[in-house]
Amino acid sequence: EDYDRGGHETFLHKEIHEQPAALDRALRGRLDERFSTARLGGVGLDAREVRSIRRVKFLGSGSSYYAGQIGATLVEELARIPADAEPSSEFRYRNPVIDPDTLYIAVSQSGETADTLAAVAELKRKGGRLLGVVNVVGSAIARECGSGLFLHAGPEVSVAATKSFTNMAASFALLALHLGRVRDLSLADGRRLVDGLRRLPDQLGEILAAEEAIRAVAHKYADARHMFFVGRVRGYPVAREGAQKLKEISYIHAEAYQSAELKHGPLALINPEMPSVVVIPADETFGKNLATIEEIKARGGPVIAVTNTELPAGLADDVLFVPRNEVQLDPVLLGIPLQLFAHHIAEKLGRDIDRPRNLAKSLTVE
Ligand code: G6P
Repeated sequence: EDYDRGGHETFLHKEIHEQPAALDRALRGRLDERFSTARLGGVGLDAREVRSIRRVKFLGSGSSYYAGQIGATLVEELARIPADAEPSSEFRYRNPVIDPDTLYIAVSQSGETADTLAAVAELKRKGGRLLGVVNVVGSAIARECGSGLFLHAGPEVSVAATKSFTNMAASFALLALHLGRVRDLSLADGRRLVDGLRRLPDQLGEILAAEEAIRAVAHKYADARHMFFVGRVRGYPVAREGAQKLKEISYIHAEAYQSAELKHGPLALINPEMPSVVVIPADETFGKNLATIEEIKARGGPVIAVTNTELPAGLADDVLFVPRNEVQLDPVLLGIPLQLFAHHIAEKLGRDIDRPRNLAKSLTVE
């Protein structure tokens, strides 16, 4: 029955709606109340090994690379280990220096993506420390990595990633919590995050329950030829994934920028025909994001804000709301309305949502 649309018009729509249950599976049995940490049996790093990590690098392609950026931010914030994400293709072609104190994390829904598999093979050959974060059990990347964590998102049929992406973000929060609690994250902070993680599946359900409002906003912008998606720090990978979803399934040209980079060039394109989606959570970047919205509005650009707080009345043209949680967990929720936004635009335009042109679910050849 997993391969049946189950009453939904598309697999994508079904998979968007499966996310509360999928997220619940990713968290089940992994939250440790006693020590306010995450229990990740498959990671297999003892405390001494965790303390010896000097860098973390996430490697993936497409949505898995953007999810890796969320992971890098989480690891830096919660575990205070320098971290970044790189497309696995770039990594494999640039003869990277493999550092024994770096933990490399290969990220893949299918576990079969050729570029990520090649990066894993190169890392293994050179003795890099490696974990796999993969959805498909028994896949090549899962087997090659040997240790890591499974996403438990269930089968994802639609070409565009949804529940796998959300479970990646949540799994990286678990991993960052696990690493952080062996290092310098306090018991009290650990508890806040454990409680926050536990709330996520219901909060995700609340966003989906507001689908009609999101659909109305989507339909309003379905005629756009181009869109910007902007965000800062935690919001930037969310903006990238939002732009990716729109491009993939609606064929509307979308570009993502770090909000402040808009003014270094792209602002020249802002006009009434160029809507911008601004990811603006109630975190320490909130004031700066408000200024970004004002910059766009001053040039006549329509703004769709994705937020978890009240915005000054009339500032944005349209607002998509998500519930509030711990700021570090915001990226798990902020992307959900953007999946529905892309879906309803693509549906209005009559696109073949589950099988977008020129794309494959899994690129097992170069
Ligand atoms: C393809 C898919 C994308 C996906 C990427 C990485 O390009 O169309 O949706 O993000 O591969 O796939 P993976 O299975 O490695 O996550």
